[in-house]
Order: sequence, then C-alpha cells, then structure tokens
Amino acid sequence: MNAAAIQVKGLEKSYKNLEVLRGVDFDVAAGSIFALLGSNGAGKTTVVKILATLLKADAGTAKVNGFDVATQPAEVRESISLTGQFAAVDEILSGRENLVLLARLRHLKDPGSVANGLLERFSLADAAARKVATYSGGMRRRLDIAMSLIGNPPVIFLDEPTTGLDPQARLEVWDAVRELAAQGTTVLLTTQYLDEAEQLADRIAILHGGRIIVNGTLAELKQMLPPAEVEYVEKQPTLEDVFLAVVGHQ
Ligand SMILES: Nc1ncnc2c1ncn2[C@@H]1O[C@H](COP(=O)(O)OP(=O)(O)O)[C@@H](O)[C@H]1O
Ligand SMILES: [Mg+2]
Repeated sequence: MNAAAIQVKGLEKSYKNLEVLRGVDFDVAAGSIFALLGSNGAGKTTVVKILATLLKADAGTAKVNGFDVATQPAEVRESISLTGQFAAVDEILSGRENLVLLARLRHLKDPGSVANGLLERFSLADAAARKVATYSGGMRRRLDIAMSLIGNPPVIFLDEPTTGLDPQARLEVWDAVRELAAQGTTVLLTTQYLDEAEQLADRIAILHGGRIIVNGTLAELKQMLPPAEVEYVEKQPTLEDVFLAVVGHQ
C-alpha cells in the first residue's frame, strides 16, 4: 500500500451564508490519479484552493505530502503545483522560452536541458521555438502542465484541465496526465466530465451537497448499481448511470 499523499478530514468551508463544504473526507495514495468529480458549483475549486493553501478552511484538517495546510503552508507550497483553467504561460515567448524562464526563476541548474526534457515529454519539441500565441488549446494546456512540473513537485493539482478544449486537445491532455502519473507524481484532478474521470482516475470521488457521497475505483462505483437486465444482453452500468443514481436526477 502506498502512503497517502493527500489526507483530507472533515473539511468545511462557507462563503458568508453559502455552505459549500460540509465535511469533506478523502485520501489520495501517493503516485495515483484521483478524480474529484462534481457538477459546476459543487465546491471542487474550493477544495483545491484549500489544499494549495490559497484559502483557509473553516474546520477540518488537510495534509499534503505529510504537511498540514494550516500550520505548514510553506512546506505544502514547496510540495505542490497547481494548474487550472487559466493558462499561466506568456503568449509572446516561445514554449521553450517559457520553460527556461521558469526554470531560471526556480534557480534550477541547466534550465535549457530541463526545458528540452519537458518539451520532449509533452510532445512539444517540434513547436518549441514557436510563440505560444500560435499554439492550439491542447498545446497550451500541455505546456501549462509541463511548466507546473518544473522543480519536480511530488503532488500536482489539475483543476478542470480540459474544460473548454476540443475533443482532440482533450485526448492530448489526457496523455499528458497519464505521463505525469507514470513518473510517480500524485495527481488530484477535478472534473465535471464523467468520461474524463473514467479514463484517467485510479479512484473517483463524487462531491455533491458539500460532501463526498461516493469514493471508489471505477469498478467499485459500477458495482453500486446492478447490471441492467435486457432480454438477451447484460449491460454494465456506466459511470454516468452511477453518478445520476447517487446525486439524483435533476
Ligand atoms: N469567493 C467566493 N465568494 C462567494 N462564493 C463563492 C466564492 N468562490 C466560490 N463561491 C461559490 O461557492 C460554490 C462552489 O464554488 P467552486 O468551489 O468554485 O465550485 P466548482 O469548482 O465545483 O465549480 C459556488 O456556488 C460558487 O459560486
Ligand atoms: Mg471550479
């Protein structure tokens, strides 16, 4: 068993009168991909912001890479990187220049070879010298993920990494996320797309009504519903069936 890279217990958060998190609990095993699945407004970004020390919880505890977000925020920040719907890349610079700049800012040795390695890993080597302004949405998001890896953080948060991308770009980003996990990085990914969770995650947790209402592997989630009996064929429930059953049809 891997140790937990992220441990969340009893997390609560309100914005004025709006109770967003009402006791959120989950653990993420080191080196795994964990999907926090929820509708728009469920509180996914709120969870990620608390784990990234950008927001304080009202109650509960959270540890990232063994460090408490409330009492050891500097250590947590050194352990993570956060990438979201906003792309933190400079349009005027090339992909390679963006990576080199960030590697310099982080005081890494040999920023050029760090940049080259990441460009290769995320299939951006051919576009390395082009201005980011000319990149497709998928290329930008991949560059954003590559940038977040500078300094080798053990834990990476991807907040809706494919929202707004076309189908081809989504597939490219999915490959990039798989590449992250293959190198041993722990990935906490939020998504409102069931197929994304289904494709990428080792475990899936559904955030609904301020709590985690389901948490398990895809196979465990599918076992929650009996297979639908049809006359001659047996259909396994999809993650969508499970999601709708547990959150209730709207
Ligand atoms: N700074 C804020 N002030 C007030 N309400 C907020 C703030 N941030 C988020 N909310 C509200 O909290 C709820 C959860 O937001 P969020 O965590 O962004 O959800 P998600 O990322 O799942 O879409 C939403 O109803 C949102 O409008
Ligand atoms: Mg969000």
